Amino acid sequence: MKSFKVEAHFNQFENLKELPQDIQDLFKKAASVRENAYAPYSQFLVGCALLLDNGQVVSGSNQENASYPSGLCAERTAIYFAGATYPKARILKMAIIAGSTKKITNTPIPPCGACRQTISEYEFKQDIPIEMYFKGQEGAIVYSKSLSNLLPLSFNKNAL
Ligand code: THU
Repeated sequence: MKSFKVEAHFNQFENLKELPQDIQDLFKKAASVRENAYAPYSQFLVGCALLLDNGQVVSGSNQENASYPSGLCAERTAIYFAGATYPKARILKMAIIAGSTKKITNTPIPPCGACRQTISEYEFKQDIPIEMYFKGQEGAIVYSKSLSNLLPLSFNKNAL
């Protein structure tokens, strides 16, 4: 048997002002679209904004359903919109802001497993990394240089 290790590296910033202007703008958009979340069941609101290589910014928020699994996370709402609207564009950067209306969420909220798998599909398709930034309503921002850094040993098209 052999063992192997996969390391993941992240940067944490304490304040948005430490980040470049385009990321601050992406978070502004994510925070604004978060207000459109439809989350009557969880009261957990998530906003996501993507910067594409054609200069467009697309965004999405979580949309819930009385049949719970029929709802969709903010990240997938945004990325499927990007794929449906600009199929040739590459996704450069993603900003996610998330938090509960029941308490202050002041820790960085990473994308769920299903969203990681979905974002991974687009990263493989375009063959350049998607830079990921995520935060709570307040507090620190975490940066990952790619989605694959968040999803080691991913299942992808190479297996098929
Ligand atoms: N949610 C997201 O929008 N993104 C994630 O990555 C995690 C969870 C949403 C789904 C659901 O509407 C609510 O947050 C609580 O899980």
